[in-house]
Amino acid sequence: MDNLHRDRLAARFSRRDLLLATAGVATLGAAASTRAAEPAAASAPTAATAAPAGPFTLPALPYADGALDPVISANTLGFHHGKHHRAYVDNLNKAIAGTVFAAMPLEKIIAATYGVADKTAVYNNAAQHWNHSFYWRSLSPQGGGEPPAALRHKIEASFGSVAACQKELLTAATGQFGSGWAWLVQEGDKLAVSHTGNADSPLSKGSKPLLTIDVWEHAYYLDYQNRRADYVNAVLAKLLNWGFAADNLGSA
Ligand SMILES: [Fe+2]
Repeated sequence: MDNLHRDRLAARFSRRDLLLATAGVATLGAAASTRAAEPAAASAPTAATAAPAGPFTLPALPYADGALDPVISANTLGFHHGKHHRAYVDNLNKAIAGTVFAAMPLEKIIAATYGVADKTAVYNNAAQHWNHSFYWRSLSPQGGGEPPAALRHKIEASFGSVAACQKELLTAATGQFGSGWAWLVQEGDKLAVSHTGNADSPLSKGSKPLLTIDVWEHAYYLDYQNRRADYVNAVLAKLLNWGFAADNLGSA
């Protein structure tokens, strides 16, 4: 990536920070960027334990490890949050120690390292920290069902129906080759579905994420083995947090 492109990308993230500051995504961004004790999430019985010295900390889950069972078992959630997400946070702290990134908000680290060949480790761990913090809030023990009216109207305008939107999410999730993420995003006044590989997210494409589904194997393999479609269908039916997506809607 040339310097001009990188500067433009960083500037776009700066503008996005201002936009997101008035939307629900800001809640996620703030939580994922927390540099001291995490704010207590509503009814968050899974406390974040002490992390190694570093600016970023593992956010507590917004529900108990077993709250998403049987769609996602406590075993899967415990490993996913307590091992995988924690490793991204710990590795990020190690990678940025003593660098200019140690003083940056998470979103700025992601923007500054996207596409930079010798900053791949920083980018991957920062982006995965952001993605996972967003994913936990994209799920809810009371999820599934119908989206709130304002979101439902936008979904119907963009996809025709909620069912059609869910079908596109399933196609994106199962069509992602290898590890990655499926996303519902806002692009101006329209909603769209996309998928990204590895640690990438729509943030780097200029879209506003509304919700995501993790389709890395670590998200489902203990419960579903290779049956990714079964995991995604169950999440769509029982766990998808439409309220979180509605909170993230903005005027971007
Ligand atoms: Fe994951």
